[in-house]
Amino acid sequence: MEIIPLACESLGTRSFSHLVITDDTKILFDPSVSLAPRRFRLNPHPLEIAASWISRKTILKAVSLSEIVIQTHYHADHFTLPEFRIYEFTNKNVFEETYSEEKIIYAKDPENNINYNQKRRAKYLWRNKKRKLFKAEGNIFQIGNTKIKFSEAVSHNIDERLGFVFETIVDDGKRKYLYTSDVSGPVSEKATDFILNEEPDILVLDGPTYYHPRVSKREKEIAFQNLNIIKDSIKKIYIDHHFLRKKNWKEKLEKEVGVKFPAFSQIIGLEPIILEAMRKELFKETEVQEEFYSLLEQGLINTDFFLKILKENKIANYWKKINEKIEKY
Ligand SMILES: [Fe+2]
Ligand SMILES: [Fe+2]
Repeated sequence: MEIIPLACESLGTRSFSHLVITDDTKILFDPSVSLAPRRFRLNPHPLEIAASWISRKTILKAVSLSEIVIQTHYHADHFTLPEFRIYEFTNKNVFEETYSEEKIIYAKDPENNINYNQKRRAKYLWRNKKRKLFKAEGNIFQIGNTKIKFSEAVSHNIDERLGFVFETIVDDGKRKYLYTSDVSGPVSEKATDFILNEEPDILVLDGPTYYHPRVSKREKEIAFQNLNIIKDSIKKIYIDHHFLRKKNWKEKLEKEVGVKFPAFSQIIGLEPIILEAMRKELFKETEVQEEFYSLLEQGLINTDFFLKILKENKIANYWKKINEKIEKY
């Protein structure tokens, strides 16, 4: 089994997109990428936008080789929307390519355990009856020796009005991999119990949303308590996504949990580059022309600009490495 992150906070964007490749099949998880439109009262920095651009290209490359797509919920950092979104490099064609009729798609139930906003977005996917779509929650699918098992719906946050996701197991008979998606810690007992009962060899989780000012102190406490329970029973844990939206994430982890879990990028040996959390610093370091955003909106920022800024910041080689890994298959 090979696990290849494609886009995530440790690769400079908001995403949790990755490939899991076994001898039997190629599975693409949550094929989307986004950026926080405002953080620290600032727009995304051009370097973040470049990271999003190259991440989208990389995800599309992964789309072309994957047989299965797993869609854990319908937030834009996981779900590609069929509309033009300036920081996400999407449009109707990108959407159709990502969720093409040839793929088998295991997706979040669009009717049950879902909030209004996500239900509306889910329709984009489910309204095309030619798609090979299956509701994931609670189901098990077998492809050769590879078993894909989905948890029941688990809460995204402590407040269930914010929606639900599911957790996924990929077991190829040699290794058992568990991806939590957005379980915010995990904060719910159900999401925690699923992890503890499954005892995966490798766990990739999003961690508590401690960066978020509107998440209550109680929610953060519960999430860290659960993380402390999990840490003792699983050997390999990678943390990313929500947890890496604040620059002190390593210190916070050490303080609350007493261990240093690697970030998801480190599963392929790449040191995390957190850009959103460093937005203020990025704007201080590099001057951004006032007209940049209007040029971007008009489609006048070209490929050369993105490649140049990635190279100048010495991170273009990150996607080179990821693309080389994908190209092997
Ligand atoms: Fe989410
Ligand atoms: Fe997310």
